[in-house]
Amino acid sequence: MLPIDLQGKRALVAGVADDAGFGFAIAKALAEAGASVCLATWPPALGIFKTLLERGKLDESLVMPGGTKLAFERIDPLDADFDVAADVPAEVAQSKRYRDYGDVSIEGLAARLRASYGEACLDVVVHSLANGPEVKKPLLETSRRGYLAAVGVSAYSFASMIARLGPLVRPGGSFLALSYMASERVVPGYGGGMSSAKAALESDTRVLAFEAGRKWGHRVNVISAGPFASRAASAIGFIDQMIDYTTRNAPLTDPITAEEVGATAAFLCSPLASGITGATIYVDKGYQAMGVAVDRPTLT
Ligand SMILES: NC(=O)c1ccc[n+]([C@@H]2O[C@H](COP(=O)([O-])OP(=O)(O)OC[C@H]3O[C@@H](n4cnc5c(N)ncnc54)[C@H](O)[C@@H]3O)[C@@H](O)[C@H]2O)c1
Repeated sequence: MLPIDLQGKRALVAGVADDAGFGFAIAKALAEAGASVCLATWPPALGIFKTLLERGKLDESLVMPGGTKLAFERIDPLDADFDVAADVPAEVAQSKRYRDYGDVSIEGLAARLRASYGEACLDVVVHSLANGPEVKKPLLETSRRGYLAAVGVSAYSFASMIARLGPLVRPGGSFLALSYMASERVVPGYGGGMSSAKAALESDTRVLAFEAGRKWGHRVNVISAGPFASRAASAIGFIDQMIDYTTRNAPLTDPITAEEVGATAAFLCSPLASGITGATIYVDKGYQAMGVAVDRPTLT
């Protein structure tokens, strides 16, 4: 057997607030491979997420093969819009959904982990978060502010996380982000600068792979996933149409599952993928390979 073995490793997955998205599936796959998993969650969603966990509402999703229940090592607040505490506007820091959490910035997260575990305490960091406040607007109607917000949260935050968490990651560590094919092809409706953010994320992955590789020996990759009805994707409004279109036109006609993305993430973050960095790996049932629309479920 050739196992994906993450025993003895600690992973941090940023962007988990329920059991319905890629982040949760990735966290679970990493745990199934033996890693201890820490989460970082957007403050406005953190209270509800912890309540769901405490009340056992996610118990079914937390069952691991063999019947044990996945337990996260810790869940910290993180607003990936902010690099350091001083970036958080006072009205945000004092608002109901933030005031109990202290420093929610990326630097704040690094400081919490360092305070708990010391240096060299992580092996895997996953960035599974995005936000585009004007995502429903075509690019032509997107404001500069909305565009920059999308790129800031959804792309720059990955560079910031690598810069700030890189020193905490043990040699041979792995960073991973999640992208979408709208980075390179036109997907009308995926607006507000989100397509630009994903293009930046994929380009940055290559540059960061070089820089983090040379600086620390870490690997940096991105999964370009097919459409999946997570909470964030459902908020865009046409995810069911995207899934339907993709399943009619992709080489493999089943919709992608979060577990498929989780399994690929676990592989990419494991020593088995020690030769892979700077790569965009498609988990999309082959849709990116198509040049024309077929628009039917089978060829017969
Ligand atoms: N669902 C899809 O069809 C699809 C396809 C390709 C790529 N992706 C990408 O996968 C990643 C995960 O998204 P998902 O679809 O699983 O949805 P999701 O809703 O499970 O995850 C998005 C997460 O981002 C968090 N978030 C938003 N703003 C944040 C901020 N400022 N700071 C910290 N966290 C913040 C949300 O709280 C949420 O937990 C995203 O990068 C997304 O663009 C999704």
